[in-house]
Amino acid sequence: MLVDKTTTPPRPNLIDFHGVSMVHYFTDNWEKIQNFKARPDDILIATYPKAGTTWVSYILDLLYFSQTQPDRQTSTPLNDRVPFLEITIPNQSSGTDLADSLDTCPRLIKTHLPVQLIPKSFWEQKCRVVYVARNAKDNAVSYFHFDRMTCVQPEPGDWNSYLQRFIDGKMVFGSWYDHVTGWWEKKHSHPKIQYMFFEDMVEDTGREINKLCSFLGLTSTTKEKDQINNLVQFDNMKKNEMANYSTVKAMDFKISPFMRKGKVGDWRNHFTVAQNEEFDEDYKKKMKNTTLQFRTLV
Ligand code: PPS
Repeated sequence: MLVDKTTTPPRPNLIDFHGVSMVHYFTDNWEKIQNFKARPDDILIATYPKAGTTWVSYILDLLYFSQTQPDRQTSTPLNDRVPFLEITIPNQSSGTDLADSLDTCPRLIKTHLPVQLIPKSFWEQKCRVVYVARNAKDNAVSYFHFDRMTCVQPEPGDWNSYLQRFIDGKMVFGSWYDHVTGWWEKKHSHPKIQYMFFEDMVEDTGREINKLCSFLGLTSTTKEKDQINNLVQFDNMKKNEMANYSTVKAMDFKISPFMRKGKVGDWRNHFTVAQNEEFDEDYKKKMKNTTLQFRTLV
């Protein structure tokens, strides 16, 4: 969809927020975000941007509500069904207001916050969290194209300088390395985190839907799960106006669609040999103390 220049907000600058690079669209409402009152049955969908948030949000929404509220799928865009907790855009409902007004049980709530910035009520209420992580190279590529097409992010610049900023952690929501490892470590103290991988979802979506059902204690039938598996395939989601973000004004699909490629390994079309070697060398150093492993191809 075309961007409406009269209503879209200007591109923001990167700011330092408690040691994390951010933009004001995700910090302006901080008081309310930090004091957000989670409920015990809330489900938090947490990701670094571009790791598969929308995909898993749609799966969870269908698992919980496709049988009981089928109209929801055709009447309400996914971003209103699964509010983005920290977003505040002028003249639009904030994420916290949208979450507070949800009448579903459970409430599905999306966040990109690094683990140390999550409102404490989610931990106090022992909420379940579904975290999705994506390998760094594809994540960086996807984020680059997203930053080209949405005005709520800083200008991305060229790919080479963007990749350097990714390596340096100077991205909105901070360092990918800190984000994925921070949430990985949190599993030790908060057992209700299902840590998933974008690559696993691409490899076998049905298997990952089964894992989600086990984690959430859902007893969906095989037929229901098969239907959901079909609806959430890339080509079907891309066509689905209620799930493909085409209703969001701040995105210019002429530059790059939200549902862009949905592949593992697209990084090979972007990284030069030199960029790849430099990236790998730095990656080993940054990730040497974690047991977290990623696949860059499936
Ligand atoms: S956001 O803006 O942070 O909420 O973006 P997010 O939803 O996390 O990530 C967007 C990327 O996920 C891809 N995607 C999918 N891939 C495969 N199958 C399905 N069903 C699917 N749904 C979303 C989407 O295409 C973006 O990745 P890229 O690599 O840019 O295509």
